[in-house]
Amino acid sequence: MLDVKTPAVALVAFATVFLMLALGKFVWKRRKMPPGPFPLPLLGNYLQLRSGNQIQTLMKLSEKYGPVFTVYFGPRPNVVLVGYKAVKEMPIDHGDSVLGRGEIPIFFDLYNRCGLPVANGDHWKQLRQFSRMTLRDFGMGKKSLEEPIQTEARHMVNVFRNTKQHPVDPGYTLICASSNVIASVLMGTRYDYNDQKWLNILSDMCKAFSITSSPSGRLYDMFPSLMRILPRNHQNFFKLLKGLRDVVKEQARRHLETLDPACPRDYIDCFLLRMKQENMKLPFDMKNLISTIFDMFLGGAETTAVTIKFGFLVLIKYPEIQVFYEEIEQVIGFTRDPMVEDRSKMPYMNAVIHEIQRFSDVLPLGVARSATSDIHFRGYLIPEKTDVLPVLTTVLNDPTQFETPHKFNVKHFLDENGKFMKNNGFLPFSAGKRNCIGESLTRMQLFIFFASVLQKCTLKPTVAPKDLDINPVETSFENIPPVHKIIFIPRE
Ligand code: HEM
Repeated sequence: MLDVKTPAVALVAFATVFLMLALGKFVWKRRKMPPGPFPLPLLGNYLQLRSGNQIQTLMKLSEKYGPVFTVYFGPRPNVVLVGYKAVKEMPIDHGDSVLGRGEIPIFFDLYNRCGLPVANGDHWKQLRQFSRMTLRDFGMGKKSLEEPIQTEARHMVNVFRNTKQHPVDPGYTLICASSNVIASVLMGTRYDYNDQKWLNILSDMCKAFSITSSPSGRLYDMFPSLMRILPRNHQNFFKLLKGLRDVVKEQARRHLETLDPACPRDYIDCFLLRMKQENMKLPFDMKNLISTIFDMFLGGAETTAVTIKFGFLVLIKYPEIQVFYEEIEQVIGFTRDPMVEDRSKMPYMNAVIHEIQRFSDVLPLGVARSATSDIHFRGYLIPEKTDVLPVLTTVLNDPTQFETPHKFNVKHFLDENGKFMKNNGFLPFSAGKRNCIGESLTRMQLFIFFASVLQKCTLKPTVAPKDLDINPVETSFENIPPVHKIIFIPRE
């Protein structure tokens, strides 16, 4: 007669064999991958990564495992690249194999997996080529890219000059200005700095960004299936961005109603025309249009505003670097607007802006890529579909490229004759064929914005520079600068 315990014993035995086999398969597969801490089932390396500062944790792991190692964000393996050599080598030697976008669950959910930044394969190729050409050729008859930036710089400088030397936090003015540049290029419009509805939308956008760096935002990154159903702070991320999404949708609808095929006005018009041409064949449909525009606001406006904000803090912390007066006087003068072509004649200003961008290190973790085929890298195997994370902060602070990586130092970009000097470690926009598509727009904007402000104002702190702490208040997906009020003294 069979014992009643027999089925239970058989089940346990079966489960044990199954688990042993699964473990064996996992260990076998993992043995060729870059080394790293052993992950727990489902939890991955959560125990190692849960502590506050993710970047510091990754740096510690890199000390133990070297510049190329594997960590598991939940059950998902990520190959982490640390330092200039590893980050540069991967997109150059294996460029075409890391063109996929790695999992960024909170953004994938936000964009419904549509749009340029999260697209993959042929859809990504088509969206990328279209967007690059449209942004590059944006002369399109009426406005060059330079003109909307200059217009915005004038509005921004007027706000600062009209503060009557009262200390102000420039944060909102900067996000208004940088989002207006994007609005102008992509949607042919700009918003008044006193438009309360728009200000609320921008304020919600900044709040949403800080959620991505919060503990619940990081948990979402590791355990999306669980976090999607848990009612925590991260659910606000989607609510806070609804206003911006609605504006983008409304703009797309209005553009469609007033579209003149003979005279495209902006990026949206060009996309709508391409949609007609392609008969709405993917990826040229409404969902991809809305997600692409939406991301350019999110990814572009906030990052640019934060860079300038860090820049202003650097200028008041180290007033000795505010010696642009002579260069501005010689090249631009004090009556006309700064132009992009002035940049090559202003090595000092150019070097300061590069160093500001390096020092502000806005996206320290970079943006995850994904292997589109098996990659053999430094003797390891990175299997197809594995995420690859280039930790950009370790490039921007790499001592092999920058003499004093943790100190603001204009000489990182100036040679001994005072000429502007390129530095290979300058990779805030990442590298390779999937680098930031907004790079040249951002670089134009940073130059014109900084030159316009410094042409018309001197910046002063409200406390002694030595007492100013300008270290980021949050650091994870994005480095968030502290709030310090600044006095803008008009130059007559
Ligand atoms: C300081 C400003 C900015 C920084 C530091 C920055 C940085 C980055 C980085 C690191 C990436 C990831 C690239 C990669 O996967 O290797 C990226 C992607 C991207 N950026 Fe930017 N960005 C900035 C401004 C902008 C602006 C103004 C726009 C819009 C016009 C923009 C649009 C995009 C898009 C669409 C992608 C995705 C590209 C793709 O997947 O093909 N960015 N950016």
